[in-house]
Formats: sequence, C-alpha cells, structure tokens
Amino acid sequence: MRHLLSTRDLSRDDALLLLDTAEDMAEVSTREVRKLPVLRGTTVVNLFYEDSTRTRISFEAAEKRLSADVINFAAKGSSVSKGESLKDTAQTLRAIGADAVVIRHPASGAPQLLAERGWIDTPILNAGDGTHEHPTQALLDAFTIRRRRHGAGARGKDLAGEHVVIVGDILHSRVARSNVWLLTTLGARVTLVAPPTLLPVDTSLWPARTTHDLDEALADSPTAVMALRIQAERMTDAYFPNTREYAKFWGLGEARFRRLPERTFVMHPGPMNRGLEISSVAADSDRSTILDQVANGVSVRMAALYLLCAGARDGETAAARTTNQAATEEGTK
Ligand code: CP
Repeated sequence: MRHLLSTRDLSRDDALLLLDTAEDMAEVSTREVRKLPVLRGTTVVNLFYEDSTRTRISFEAAEKRLSADVINFAAKGSSVSKGESLKDTAQTLRAIGADAVVIRHPASGAPQLLAERGWIDTPILNAGDGTHEHPTQALLDAFTIRRRRHGAGARGKDLAGEHVVIVGDILHSRVARSNVWLLTTLGARVTLVAPPTLLPVDTSLWPARTTHDLDEALADSPTAVMALRIQAERMTDAYFPNTREYAKFWGLGEARFRRLPERTFVMHPGPMNRGLEISSVAADSDRSTILDQVANGVSVRMAALYLLCAGARDGETAAARTTNQAATEEGTK
C-alpha cells in the first residue's frame, strides 16, 4: 500500500493487515507509556478543507502517539481563501517538509488527484472526500464490529457471517460507500435502508441489498445497525417531508430501539443529530458502540500511518517491531 484512498481498492489481505496492526496499536495504547518512536523525524500534515472533530483529532492523536511531527492545516484562515489551488497548497506543504498528507476535502476525488497527479510524492491518507469515501471510518467500524463479536486481539478473523444494516442518508454518505466495500470484502452482508430520495439512483453495482423498510431489515437480526447522519449541509432540496416523519420511519427512536433483536448493537459514525436519526436512549445505551468507535479510530489511524509511513518488515508485527526497535536503541546507549 502506498496510499489509503478508498476501501473499494483494498484487498482482503490489506484490510486484515490494517485491522491486525490496529490490534497491536490498541495494545500499545494500554501501556503506561503510550508513545512509540516509529515515526520519529516524520512530518505529517493534516490538510482539512472541511470541518471535523473525530477524524482530525484522532489522526492528530495517532500521529503524536507514533512520535511524528504534526502540522495542522485548516483551509479556513489559509491562503485557500485567496484562491490558492490544491496543487499549489500541496507543493507548498512538500517544500515545507511534509512526509505524509492526511486530507479531508469537500470534492469527491481530491485525495486521488493529489496521489495520482504527482504534485506531491508522499503517502496520501483520505480523511473523507465529498460523498465518495471515508476509508479510515470504515476500517474503525469493521475493527469495532470484530472486537464486539470476537473480543480484543481477534487477529486474522474476518467478518464472515455478520450482517450490518446501514440506515439513513445513504445518498450523501461517504461512510456508507466505504463500509459497503470494506464490510463485503471482509465477508459481511450489508443492507442499506433509506427513503427513496436518500438512496443513489443506481446502486446495482454495489454489493449490498437496498430497502426502504427499516423494520423489515431489523427483523433479520443483524449484527449491528448503523445510523447515519442526515447531512443537511449537502442538501439543496427537501428530501423528506419533515423531521418527525423521518424519525418515525428511519430513525432509531426509543420504541424501535427497545424492539431491536437481542444480538444487534448500535453504531453511528458521528456527529449525531439526536432525536432525528438516533434517540439518546439508543445512543447512550450499553448496546451502543459509538464511543468505542471513536476510541478505535486512534488505533486504526495509527495502524494506517504506521503501515504507509514506516512500513513493516515481512512477518513482523507493529508491536514486535517497536519492541525490537526499543531494544536496539537500549543496546546502542
Ligand atoms: N465520523 C466523522 O468523520 O466525524 P468528523 O466529521 O467529526 O470527523
């Protein structure tokens, strides 16, 4: 792997390597000293053209835990507002010494453009591009599902036999797209649920079933139901008559949450519209993985940065590598 741009082009082996390396990183995060030296001397730039809380902060936490030097760039307040292009911005960052770029951009395909045009020759990590993909979110979702089903340290296991229902604003959701590809690559079954107006016109090439009936999908006892945010900021039209009707048919309200099959747990990538796509009763219950997803995001992003920027020696886990590196450093003192 040279970049992490999408989950559609991620092989099963690469996906499992990322999840297993995230297990190593999660284990490191339980140690008294949670910092690893593997990216010492590496400068990572977080290039955010769109707002973010979870992704930006957890990438920064991941970079710092790997001892990277971190530069945070927000388009607001930068020369982007004077019309500077993505190409010139990227080349400026390279000249300043960026060794890797984490990018969130409102335009679908912006990370691919950076990676493929040769404007910058560093690893590119997609932190969400338009309505296209959000690969680290899907990886942390898969990691969370695997941990819920098999416990921590379940290395090598895929998601065969799992069924994930994704409900909400599929049309505008890069999280849904990344999850459809990744979860099915890992062997899971995916059902997408949305009102007709919030499904893409053609999903015939997506490896997922679609329905408008949430209760019918939940009757199948899925492993998890993932509620998605209504992305009002991307809507130029009215996609449903009113929020009360949306919540009734497609929301995880209290009554629907209480009827969930016993095995089904509740996910949401955040940020949530409480009372619309998810109720507080569902979001704050012990069947909710929402805060686990946030915590797991740090481990998954550490894994992605480590694999792309440090590179792992064949057959050596991140934990072994860092232990070996620490031993080597101790021996040379
Ligand atoms: N899930 C997610 O991408 O959240 P942020 O927009 O806060 O990063």
